[in-house]
Amino acid sequence: NKKVIIDVDTGVDDALGLLLAIRSGELDILGITTVNGNVSMEQATANTCKILQLAGAEHIPVVQGAGKPMIRSTYFEHRVHGKDGLGGALDDMTQRKQPEEGYAVDFIIEQIREHHGEITLIMTGPLTNLALAILKYPELVQQVKEVVVMGGVVQSFGNVTPTAEYNMYVDPEAAKHVFWAGFASLTLVGLDVTRKALLSEEHINAMGDSEIARYVRASTADYMKRYQERNGVKACAMHDPLAVAVAINPDLVKTGHYYVDIETRSELCDGQTVCDFQNRLAVKPNVHVCLEVAADEFINHFIRVLRG
Ligand code: BDR
Ligand code: CA
Repeated sequence: NKKVIIDVDTGVDDALGLLLAIRSGELDILGITTVNGNVSMEQATANTCKILQLAGAEHIPVVQGAGKPMIRSTYFEHRVHGKDGLGGALDDMTQRKQPEEGYAVDFIIEQIREHHGEITLIMTGPLTNLALAILKYPELVQQVKEVVVMGGVVQSFGNVTPTAEYNMYVDPEAAKHVFWAGFASLTLVGLDVTRKALLSEEHINAMGDSEIARYVRASTADYMKRYQERNGVKACAMHDPLAVAVAINPDLVKTGHYYVDIETRSELCDGQTVCDFQNRLAVKPNVHVCLEVAADEFINHFIRVLRG
């Protein structure tokens, strides 16, 4: 099994990504690190702990990370993910599991040093923790096996501003550090593909009536409505679960290898991921950008795994 660290700002879809990662049995999860994003870092941590309880995976370490973006202020997404970040679905659950002592940035560095060349980082929130880790220990770039990031959009429109995807918008400076770092394998799972990977109410019904299926139904109810308001389809956009699925099975997507950078100094376009499709800047490609996805295969896999 691939050794992974999953970095999350646990909102509705991060939680689905975690459930997929845990229940698939196809990943060796060394730890889960939390970051500010959809909700505060503390809330993301509490949500992550509860999701591990739900999944019967309390043995997986959770480590807290950055409480704010590198230089910008926080920008929460309560409208999309609800007050608590999970659409209120675990309001009644008592949190038993607690995070480990320590700081996510150090945890990421320690794990990468210990498992030299073996770790896949799955990033489903703003990239603050990874950027801070690169700054503290630049050698990690050569010691990581691969990085899979949910974020960005290169051929379509944004989901926060007209041009920016949420994870990139919240901490574009962090994203710049990550894009410029020189990772041997950096895959960007952006809105170009995640918008094609939708979970419908029928799909959720096909998951049966287990505790997890009931959780999925409850947590996604409002999230689906928000998606419908903007996009006209009542469905749950599977942004973060798709990044997890790509880490499990890279064949789910077709990628192009391009130079990608991020706008950080624009009045209108901060957080926009700019992909140099025609190599006009003559800079070496740094990112494998996902352009197509086998959406049915992904959704069927997700349902199968969560149905148990
Ligand atoms: C990303 O933004 C967050 O709101 C989601 O959890 C996902 O990681 C999608 O743009
Ligand atoms: Ca997320």
